[in-house]
Amino acid sequence: MNDAPIGIFDSGVGGLTVARAVLDQLPHEQVFYIGDTANAPYGPKPLGAVRAMAMSVMDELVDEGVKMLVIACNTASAVALPDARERYEVKHGIPVIEVIRPAARRAVLQSRTGKIGIIATKATIESRAYEDAFHVTPGLEIVTKACPMFAPLVEKGVTSGPELMAYAHEYLDPVKAEGVDTLVLGCTHYPLLTGAISYIMGDDVSLVSSAEGTARDVYKTLVNLGLDAPQAARPPRHKFQCTGDTRSFRDLAQRFLGPEVKGVEAL
Ligand code: DGL
Repeated sequence: MNDAPIGIFDSGVGGLTVARAVLDQLPHEQVFYIGDTANAPYGPKPLGAVRAMAMSVMDELVDEGVKMLVIACNTASAVALPDARERYEVKHGIPVIEVIRPAARRAVLQSRTGKIGIIATKATIESRAYEDAFHVTPGLEIVTKACPMFAPLVEKGVTSGPELMAYAHEYLDPVKAEGVDTLVLGCTHYPLLTGAISYIMGDDVSLVSSAEGTARDVYKTLVNLGLDAPQAARPPRHKFQCTGDTRSFRDLAQRFLGPEVKGVEAL
């Protein structure tokens, strides 16, 4: 079991920001990543539909023998976590890690004023999952904004330029005007837009992503359960699959994750 891969998934390339942090913190672990690109974006879809898509990708990863599931997608974490914990953790003993609580924890530590902005997909904002995660910390003021075009632009490889900047101003100017001192990038695609987002928000607003905190949760859980991989002579060979066009996914995955992506298979 210790040699089994960690299963990580997202609607597309956004979850690679989490996979990158997992590979950095756990270089001996093998990763099996699925991008559900045929169904991307998840953000504008009804919550029940996203839950069904996410569960079917996780079924696939579990059938392939992963030792842990990482929901590297805020939208899927927001809508599918209780079902996933019930189906995989309780019934099969496969731990499930999500991305919302790690980002919320970090934002609370980071914020000096307690005024925190959340940008995310429409489904994540509507689920109020971040408000639930912040509930334990009294006295916070939360400003939320859905950014429906951000993830589709990243999926097209657009991470700079006039089209992106126009949407970034539309979404972020009102959040900036509210005077938040911390902004949660509540979608795993958004760290790939850090340049544009920090250009608009300014240097005095801290950007918080879930990648590092989620990777720390992965590390902690593997070690606590005695599931961490032994140090091997050769670096692990990772596996990448997607449900849509493999060539465009491979090009983006190599750009966003790096040389660990040797190829992408169709699922
Ligand atoms: N990267 C995902 C998230 O964290 C999903 C974006 C989308 O498919 O709309 O929410």
